[in-house]
Amino acid sequence: MQRPDFTIRLPHDVRGLAQTEEYFILVQERNERRLRLHDYREIYNVPGLYDHLLSDLLQCTSPEVITRMLSAEVGKVGVPIADLVALDLGAGTGLVGAALQQRGIRRIVGIDILPEACEAAHRDRPGVYWRYYVEDMCNLTAQAHQELTATRFNAMVCVSALGLSHVPTAVFTQGYNLVARDGWVAFNFKPASQSTRDVADFPHFISRVIEAGLLDLQVSHSYRHRLAVDGSPVNYVAMVGRKRANIPPDFILQV
Ligand SMILES: C[S@@+](CC[C@H](N)C(=O)[O-])C[C@H]1O[C@@H](n2cnc3c(N)ncnc32)[C@H](O)[C@@H]1O
Repeated sequence: MQRPDFTIRLPHDVRGLAQTEEYFILVQERNERRLRLHDYREIYNVPGLYDHLLSDLLQCTSPEVITRMLSAEVGKVGVPIADLVALDLGAGTGLVGAALQQRGIRRIVGIDILPEACEAAHRDRPGVYWRYYVEDMCNLTAQAHQELTATRFNAMVCVSALGLSHVPTAVFTQGYNLVARDGWVAFNFKPASQSTRDVADFPHFISRVIEAGLLDLQVSHSYRHRLAVDGSPVNYVAMVGRKRANIPPDFILQV
């Protein structure tokens, strides 16, 4: 990866800022720009910025936590991890793809709605993804749909992408339904104690999916996903389960 040609300043005066409003100051060649953590296009365009911000400064552990949990569950049933063909939904710059590859998974397909994400993944982590689609998971082109269906995934990971104006339940469902029966599904989300409806939706949705026996939950783990820009912990829940059946359309929440 290229040497970073930027510095980041985290704001000091932002106690309790909503997660969707968190921001930082990017300094490049004496120019300062205020960016929200959710300004993905701009962030992905700067080599190494997303990784430095999330992994180094905000100490995001989710790619590591979730891929470790997935690997442990697969290991318990004696399946070689190299047999997994994994869809990385909302793949971004490839942090999760790289963690999957380190665990021994070789067939990793990324999908992200932003071309900047695909460019960043190829630029910063060449060789991680077998294929990387720039597509809206919920509105696939016919060709992508045909290729993704033919890929016969037996695993899907969706890390740090659910709720909070990111991936709605319809998008999760589209990816999930591409996974073969008994395949592995690993993801994280913010638990429902927060006030906004956007956050509460996914926990409610996934509880229904589990209660209906569509997803056979193997393990659930509460952990510190990352630090907020004010230094306080942002806690998430990570789950790994086995898909037993498709999620029908009437489970999808209209946000
Ligand atoms: C917070 S980022 C997470 C990136 C990566 N999983 C990680 O952990 O570093 C969420 C990603 O989901 C992508 N995304 C949002 N909606 C999507 C959709 N409908 N289809 C595919 N990707 C989507 C965004 O573009 C963004 O790159």
